[in-house]
Amino acid sequence: MDHFAYHAGLLCAEDVPLPDIAASVGTPFYVYSTATLERHFRVMDEALAGLDRLVCFAVKACGNLAVLRALARLGAGMDVVSEGELRRALAVGVPGERIVFAGVGKTRAEMAAALSAGVGQFNVESEQELVALDAVAREMGVRAPVAIRVNPDVDALTHAKISTGKAEDKFGVPIARAPAVYARAAALSGIEVVGVDVHIGSQITALEPFEQAFAKVAGLVETLRADGLTIRRVDLGGGLGIPYVRSNEAPPLPFDYGAVVRRTVGALGATVVVEPGRLIAGNAGLLVAAVIYRKQGEGRDFLIVDAAMNDLIRPAMYDAWHDIVPVVEPGPDAPVAPVDVVGPVCETGDTFARARPLPRLEAGDLVAFRSAGAYGAAMASEYNARPLVPEVLVAGSRFDVVRRRPTYDEMMSRERIPDWLD
Ligand code: LLP
Repeated sequence: MDHFAYHAGLLCAEDVPLPDIAASVGTPFYVYSTATLERHFRVMDEALAGLDRLVCFAVKACGNLAVLRALARLGAGMDVVSEGELRRALAVGVPGERIVFAGVGKTRAEMAAALSAGVGQFNVESEQELVALDAVAREMGVRAPVAIRVNPDVDALTHAKISTGKAEDKFGVPIARAPAVYARAAALSGIEVVGVDVHIGSQITALEPFEQAFAKVAGLVETLRADGLTIRRVDLGGGLGIPYVRSNEAPPLPFDYGAVVRRTVGALGATVVVEPGRLIAGNAGLLVAAVIYRKQGEGRDFLIVDAAMNDLIRPAMYDAWHDIVPVVEPGPDAPVAPVDVVGPVCETGDTFARARPLPRLEAGDLVAFRSAGAYGAAMASEYNARPLVPEVLVAGSRFDVVRRRPTYDEMMSRERIPDWLD
């Protein structure tokens, strides 16, 4: 459930009509709903009720400081994958012990920054990384709390580009090798083994892959404990899919995911860590754009909007479906006709939707791309020298610009022409 709905014929974010935001910040813009972010966090947290748990928001999904702050206020932990994300989590007041540092290629500098911040857990993905982390920790005179990310060789049945738990994927340590890696970790004085970590992919729409992976993790925890190791945390990663409104995917409910967690790892008595990104932010954000032109092509019409693939890359990159809705509510009998919704970037891939049935829209009309709160603004670029889209946060009847649109001068000011080109 989200807090974007038509009121008095206009699509609103909570109590704010989107045209009001458009008039104030221009288009395109991202808008997030605080109430929806909070609701999704609570749904996930409550799905794990009864367990000792830590819900760490995956910052990569939406790293805006205001969004992070809204979640931190509720007690969310954060899953970070770079020093930049670590700094963001710390900047919004998340205590180090509620931060998990994941990622397949942490540098020594990033390890040192995370150790200084006192992060609660490093998810280590290789023996090479383990050795490096041990060395950095010893130099600093501390011990790094470590979970080894295991690769359970489970097919998450999701898009190939966001599947991470199969043997051929670059992530983690093969689960069969894990006991040997743990034995090595236990012998390193800069390492404190605290847990086991797994993450099998993203936008997962079935429970079976989770069930298989978590059951393998539970088996590993028992083996490791029998070997004398203290395993007090089990990190199950993120990945639970969301409904992309009006697409035909029907992901499981968080409540049912929680039942799988309880059934598989609940009896271990460990703290359960989860790292949801999309589940919390995905349906808490929209990308709002204006139609620039309506153009008749050969046998099809194009709606050219002022947002493009650089602003929301998911359709181009993953063939992702985003529901597209007019901001002015169409009448119940308004005729719909198929139209290709495209951006201005010079690539055919800059196509948001093909033959999408939509009511007739004309230049100047506003449209909203739904389910764009996760991996939308976070993956945006300045391709075609287009400014990064501003982000707006709504709470009730208030809204504030939480990242403004840069000026062209600001964008160019990061670059310089060497003297020798004078
Ligand atoms: N934990 C780890 C270790 C991850 O790699 C990810 C996502 C998450 C948690 C959060 O997963 P989520 O709950 O959001 O599914 N850009 C792609 C998604 C990439 C996901 C990468 N890892 C997209 O737009 O679909």
